[in-house]
Amino acid sequence: MATVEYDGIGKNFGPVTVMENISFAIDAQKFVVLLGPSGCGKTTLLRMTAGLETISAGEIRMGGKRMNEIHPRDRDIAMVFQTYALYPQMTVFDNIAFSLQVRKIAAEEIKRQVEEAAEILDLTDYLKRYPRALSGGQRQRVAMGRALVRHPQVFLFDEPLSNLDAKLRGQMRLEIRRIHDRLNTTTIYVTHDQIEAMTMADEIVVMNGGNIEQIGSPEEIYDRPANCFVADFIGSPSINLLKGVVENQDGKPAMRIGDNSLRLPDSTSAAAGQSIVYGIRPLDIEVGIDGEASGTVEFVENTGAETHLHIRFDGHDIRAVAPGRLRVNHGDRLNFTINPDKVHVFDQSSEMRVD
Ligand SMILES: Nc1ncnc2c1ncn2[C@@H]1O[C@H](COP(=O)(O)OP(=O)(O)O)[C@@H](O)[C@H]1O
Ligand SMILES: [Mg+2]
Repeated sequence: MATVEYDGIGKNFGPVTVMENISFAIDAQKFVVLLGPSGCGKTTLLRMTAGLETISAGEIRMGGKRMNEIHPRDRDIAMVFQTYALYPQMTVFDNIAFSLQVRKIAAEEIKRQVEEAAEILDLTDYLKRYPRALSGGQRQRVAMGRALVRHPQVFLFDEPLSNLDAKLRGQMRLEIRRIHDRLNTTTIYVTHDQIEAMTMADEIVVMNGGNIEQIGSPEEIYDRPANCFVADFIGSPSINLLKGVVENQDGKPAMRIGDNSLRLPDSTSAAAGQSIVYGIRPLDIEVGIDGEASGTVEFVENTGAETHLHIRFDGHDIRAVAPGRLRVNHGDRLNFTINPDKVHVFDQSSEMRVD
């Protein structure tokens, strides 16, 4: 189980620079998720880690050792991709055993290792089957089996669940996490899905346009997003972001927005007159009969367990989530209250968090 360090990593494809000066370190045994929108450089960083892509600048170290010139085969990593090409003419057993057979490992030992992997992955009853007779989830598990039997220092996953339906994705999330808790192999997992990141990671690296926006535990990233991008990317439905100017309201900090004033955390260092972005998550808006502010209901969406509301407030659209069923209709007037301690404040020009 090795540490992985990125030290000033840059990447260009010909004249196009897609990444510059990326530095961070992953402790041994951690499950780290690289999270970001499509095209932000996640796969490129993972492929450089695997040795499938050259490193244009900087150094990648595993277990303290420079990897830049090391052949992929000699890096002691195993990678699982979104598209898991199994050998259709081979049984599950042979698919999992393939890399061991290539390395001329004794048949006994291969059998032991494949059976162990199959047990971990719940594939014991399927070892004689061919891939065509497996479900999508089972095929994905076979692909993971191939990675497991290599006993690598580091697992690399690139959006391995993207091709599965929502229910199976949920199951596989738990399963991958369970395997990690059992084997403790350092894992780097790439996804654009913030739910996967939130539920699986020890630590999330939020990427955007070839840059790192924030690194932290899921709780840190959710509770204290470092900037507007992270605040907006994490959380579903998305955080409300409203622009306004800080003012003093009876000795307390607030934000002026049209005819309204919204309270800010008492502890905020935002100064009167400062242009800010006010962030509030839909779940942190309390709707009800009483309330400090009011708006007009534009849309109501019932998910079964919750009511999602689109509220027109002073020319802005605000989303709120109320527990249970709320009996409101389009056009109704609705009051709401926001606990100022739940408010995230960002500077408008830098978009960085202000505490
Ligand atoms: N082989 C390549 N040649 C040129 N540009 C590439 C190549 N691979 C990736 N890119 C570019 O690098 C950027 C990052 O891509 P990628 O790492 O695949 O993003 P992600 O995995 O986050 O969706 C994108 O702008 C993409 O177009
Ligand atoms: Mg990708």
